[in-house]
Amino acid sequence: MVIIAPSLLSANAGNYDKDIKVVEDGGAQYLHIDVMDGHFVPNMSFGPNIVEGIRKNSKLFFDVHLMIEKPEQFVIPFIKAGADSVTIHVEASEKIEEFISTCKQHGVKAGVSLRPQTPVSSIESFISDLDLLLIMSINPGFGGQSFMPESLERINEAKMLREKHKASFLISVDGGVNAENAGKIRQAGADILVAGSAIFGKEDRIAAIQDIINSAEQRA
Ligand code: DX5
Ligand code: ZN
Repeated sequence: MVIIAPSLLSANAGNYDKDIKVVEDGGAQYLHIDVMDGHFVPNMSFGPNIVEGIRKNSKLFFDVHLMIEKPEQFVIPFIKAGADSVTIHVEASEKIEEFISTCKQHGVKAGVSLRPQTPVSSIESFISDLDLLLIMSINPGFGGQSFMPESLERINEAKMLREKHKASFLISVDGGVNAENAGKIRQAGADILVAGSAIFGKEDRIAAIQDIINSAEQRA
């Protein structure tokens, strides 16, 4: 079954614990946590202290997405803060293999992310060691943008590449995912759907999660 990863960026900053509990009880398995430094992307968000704080009250799988320059220096702080997976951008690091072994040594999953313009083939040199591939379907930096339709082909390309190399990473899709497009995204090969505004932007977050699951699993 598809994994739903609500994105904390769109939650109510005045009461994260409450919003996290609602999605945890409502069928989400992951919590997607966007980390931004104002350099790699033109926005700022959470540091390790926030992750440490919300970790105390949640058992969700914490999927930390680092949209920062020199991400290597923050991998261990986020692991110590409670990340279950850490994802860095291939555009931001030349030390992906080192990063993957750091994650494995600390018992967390290693992910890489691709901006919409970066070729999917850029993961080939470390594809067998990868736990997660995060395909950006918007230009990273802000929630609430529209899904770029050309991402569907990229998701499919990642799936084919995974088969070709007999690799086992999960394919996650981030940006503009909603109940209308979740079916197509899932069909193209997504295992994990990250959704910010399509969940936290709705009055009834539980219904919003269910709508996305139903669409992804092609239930009427
Ligand atoms: C943006 C982040 C996303 C963001 C998605 O750069 O990586 O995780 O929260 O938000 P929506 O689902 O609203 O596009
Ligand atoms: Zn993200």
